[in-house]
Amino acid sequence: MISWLAKRLRLWLARHWLAIPGSPSIGQIWLSSRLQFAELATIDATNEPRLAPYERLAPFYDDYAGHWCLRYDNYLVQLANARNVPQTSVLDLSCGTGGLVGRLAKRCERVVGLDTNPYMLALARSAAGAYENTSLVASDFRQFALGERFDAIVCASDSLNYVASDDELARVVQGIAHHLKPGGLFVCDVLGRVFSSVVSGHYLHYESPTVRFALAFEFDPETGRDSTRVLFPDGVEHHDRMAINDHQLMDAAKSADLQLIERFGSLGRRYFSFTRV
Ligand SMILES: C[S@@+](CC[C@H](N)C(=O)[O-])C[C@H]1O[C@@H](n2cnc3c(N)ncnc32)[C@H](O)[C@@H]1O
Repeated sequence: MISWLAKRLRLWLARHWLAIPGSPSIGQIWLSSRLQFAELATIDATNEPRLAPYERLAPFYDDYAGHWCLRYDNYLVQLANARNVPQTSVLDLSCGTGGLVGRLAKRCERVVGLDTNPYMLALARSAAGAYENTSLVASDFRQFALGERFDAIVCASDSLNYVASDDELARVVQGIAHHLKPGGLFVCDVLGRVFSSVVSGHYLHYESPTVRFALAFEFDPETGRDSTRVLFPDGVEHHDRMAINDHQLMDAAKSADLQLIERFGSLGRRYFSFTRV
């Protein structure tokens, strides 16, 4: 009984620590209805030249996103403990620069990171390369086939939002279920329509001693599509995503035989954990 309570308490704490940054960002972030970096005005107006997603952002991503870097390593361990399931092999789907792959490698026997973006993967290779129990795969999460099943799969920091439709979301979630062992865990977070509507028409500014850039948000409530432009002095990245509300993810999970364990979070970021039936 005491050990059951201790596991529940640790899971409860892990849930609350999830969104506490692992390392503080070195830059400042603020939102404004007007673009405040004069050097980005022309790029904002002309939308030229176009850069590939993460072509410029990748090297600054960890500092910038460190503000909301999510501690899934701890949460996954506590969730697996509370449910008495192993957490030997973990897939980090859309692993980005590989920070979570590295943290998971310290706590699990084997970690695979998958991402489609060459700029993010290049950084992940140097971050995760320090750990012998990790490997990285270049693949699209809408059609991946790794030929093995994992104890747990994590898709962190609204990576799932990089889909274009409910059908694509369902396809990604089917792929996840297919790569999970029975009883395996899937944890993720998504940004929903409330978040996209609130930031739409605004600029998120990032300033550090080495770089200044801004994110321009635009949300179309009719299509549910979210288009974020990342403005740099020498070009603009376009990130096309879809806002995902609870019921959309729940429908996709249901059709893939994933059972909800818990969901929590704010109206902005929503966290989910599922198990494969
Ligand atoms: C917001 S970043 C999050 C990265 C990482 N999960 C983290 O927590 O820092 C979104 C990631 O999703 C990846 N991504 C976008 N579309 C993808 C796709 N179709 N297949 C796989 N990864 C994708 C991007 O390349 C990027 O690394």
